[in-house]
Amino acid sequence: MPPHIDVEEIRAQRRLLAWYDQHARVLPWRVSPQARERGILPNPYIVWISEVMLQQTTSAVVGPRLLRFVARFPDVAALACAPVEAVLQEWAGLGYYARARALHAAAQIMAQAGMPQSAAGLRLLPGIGTYTASAIAAIAFDEAQAPVDANIARIMARLYGLTRANGALRPAIQAAAERLLVRERPGDWAQALMDLGAEICRPRAPACPACPLAAICHGQSAGPELFPGPRLKPAKPQRYGVCFLLERAGSLWLERRPAKGLLGGMLGLPGGPWTHALFQQNRDDRAVENGLDAGVDTLRFAPVAAHWRAAGRISHSFTHFHLDLEVLAGRSADQPAGRGQWVSIADWAQAGLPTVFAKAVAMALTVDLAP
Ligand code: ADE
Repeated sequence: MPPHIDVEEIRAQRRLLAWYDQHARVLPWRVSPQARERGILPNPYIVWISEVMLQQTTSAVVGPRLLRFVARFPDVAALACAPVEAVLQEWAGLGYYARARALHAAAQIMAQAGMPQSAAGLRLLPGIGTYTASAIAAIAFDEAQAPVDANIARIMARLYGLTRANGALRPAIQAAAERLLVRERPGDWAQALMDLGAEICRPRAPACPACPLAAICHGQSAGPELFPGPRLKPAKPQRYGVCFLLERAGSLWLERRPAKGLLGGMLGLPGGPWTHALFQQNRDDRAVENGLDAGVDTLRFAPVAAHWRAAGRISHSFTHFHLDLEVLAGRSADQPAGRGQWVSIADWAQAGLPTVFAKAVAMALTVDLAP
């Protein structure tokens, strides 16, 4: 049973859809509201890939990356047949490589059984959680689903004045999203809310006077930034590590990381573990800045013996920790013992390195290795 909503809410729904009919962003995975009215629905495969990419990246970045991805893997069958390494390589720079692995695993299931046409069916697949299943079902199949991402959660919290102080915030937000869902146009409704969150109901400095939902918005009068209120987020722990760029005759040495664990199966630079304490002593910057030989500890993780020089330190944030990574560069004719490959320096950007190692390589290549 759809929840009972009042007449002001019905008017606000109409205003938001009218706004979306006029202002919908043109996005490569999207079908315009006008086309949808003529019965045209978007390609569910493309909607799925776009939703997974959009979980971690802005729509401006996703646009070109999505087009590249579907040019390489145009449908479920192509993705299912591709080696997982090719999918990981195509995913490089988008982060959260477990998502790319899950995408590939889900494609293999869909290649056998077909793509589920409902949120309930989609949710059973690897890597597709409640939000993604609802978003795909609403957008690709016009199923009456109310996906709640961070933008939609913020809109609902502001509309209905929801904060953590009210009790369980998440269920209250989901209930609000379902209350307001326009069941005749679920795909347009979800995307109208997404556009509203991106363009008007922004996290900071929302454009309330332009908002089609202002008449029913609690936050508009009370102060939109009060909702949902500050997050009680524990600080991310800091870790430290070291990595080595080994150069030999115009090539650099990349190692395949173990299949399990962070960045599993991806290429990277050799180095030590990322620990809480290893480089505490090297936080004493004198050791590093003085032309390295960055302390004895670091060098035991070097792939070969060489005259290692300090290139600098990069910082990178993962989901669960920040990493400070010491980058060393050196040259040697020796072959390292680890599992890896030589990649021409001219081609390293095509090797599909995760961002953390791409930053490290770019930094290391600034070091003059002349003897
Ligand atoms: N963010 C997440 N999914 C989106 C979509 N389908 N359109 C625009 N922004 C989004």
